[in-house]
Amino acid sequence: MKELSQRVLVTGGAGFLGSHLCERLLGAGCEVLCVDNFYTGRRDNVAHLLPNSRFELIRHDVTFPLYVEVDAIYNLACPASPIHYQYNPVQTTKTSVHGAINMLGLAKRVKARIFQASTSEVYGDPEVHPQREDYWGRVNPIGSRSCYDEGKRCAETLFFDYHRQYGLDIKVARIFNTYGPRMHPNDGRVVSNFIVQALRGHDITIYGDGSQTRSFCYVDDLIEAIVRLMAQDKDFTGPVNIGNPTEFTIRQLAETVLGLTCSSSRLIFRELPSDDPRQRKPDISLARSRLGWQPKVSLEEGLKRTVEYFSGII
Ligand SMILES: NC(=O)c1ccc[n+]([C@@H]2O[C@H](COP(=O)([O-])OP(=O)(O)OC[C@H]3O[C@@H](n4cnc5c(N)ncnc54)[C@H](O)[C@@H]3O)[C@@H](O)[C@H]2O)c1
Repeated sequence: MKELSQRVLVTGGAGFLGSHLCERLLGAGCEVLCVDNFYTGRRDNVAHLLPNSRFELIRHDVTFPLYVEVDAIYNLACPASPIHYQYNPVQTTKTSVHGAINMLGLAKRVKARIFQASTSEVYGDPEVHPQREDYWGRVNPIGSRSCYDEGKRCAETLFFDYHRQYGLDIKVARIFNTYGPRMHPNDGRVVSNFIVQALRGHDITIYGDGSQTRSFCYVDDLIEAIVRLMAQDKDFTGPVNIGNPTEFTIRQLAETVLGLTCSSSRLIFRELPSDDPRQRKPDISLARSRLGWQPKVSLEEGLKRTVEYFSGII
């Protein structure tokens, strides 16, 4: 295990996960350079970090090269919710692919360890459950989600080619649905959608019949896994699944949110979008054995903290 590096770059640092990661790394004594083009991220997410002299915020688009001196890079820049990544799909692919090339080039130049926030979407609509890291996935290359799925797959390819070709020290995590405070209220992701709808007393929209399952990981658990992954020896590259294997149906999620918000909203059902996976559940045996990690925060507890956050902002 390696100590956390001192000067770290977090791309997408003003986003939901990035802002929690910046906070955690500052807490561990790092100097944090947060880079974001504010496409989906917000200054508000990191405003509380600005007074810290070890924190620096730079507006920059990762599709352009960046020259900075750092010991480690966490590459999180990429819109993560379907509404946002489908708004400008060409830019989404560019962010994943050119962003990866630029950050890998930087890591090579300054000999930095580099982390990639990959995604369970690389498994597409899987035929095997739960998904293990050696499953190659079933992805539609020309669908409306492909800009994200294929962009992230290509980024993984680039990471592993830089590793094989140049000996780069890479760490790749495949992140499954994560939720928590600072999710964008209008990003259309299921947890934020349900909470915002419930708090506003609007109908809760369920796509499909609600029997499709998802696993939800609370943000603090996810950040702990990323930090542990980055502390591993060079021989461990991943990819490693990070997520919560406990499955819930979308309907169960909606009902839990209704209970926690004491809302009188009704559940309404809409047609399932194309390419929406029926089921997604991580096999986290590798994270358990190699990182000694597993999620600790229950869905109920995580939702409670998230509802508290949203109650304060809407
Ligand atoms: N939240 C999840 O459940 C989840 C699941 C799987 C993977 N991920 C991955 O984790 C990362 C962070 O996701 P998130 O949920 O925090 O999403 P987010 O949208 O809140 O954060 C992404 C951040 O990247 C920034 N960004 C986008 N394009 C950029 C560009 N070209 N240059 C610089 N910054 C740019 C955005 O402004 C934003 O701050 C993403 O790479 C996402 O694909 C997230």
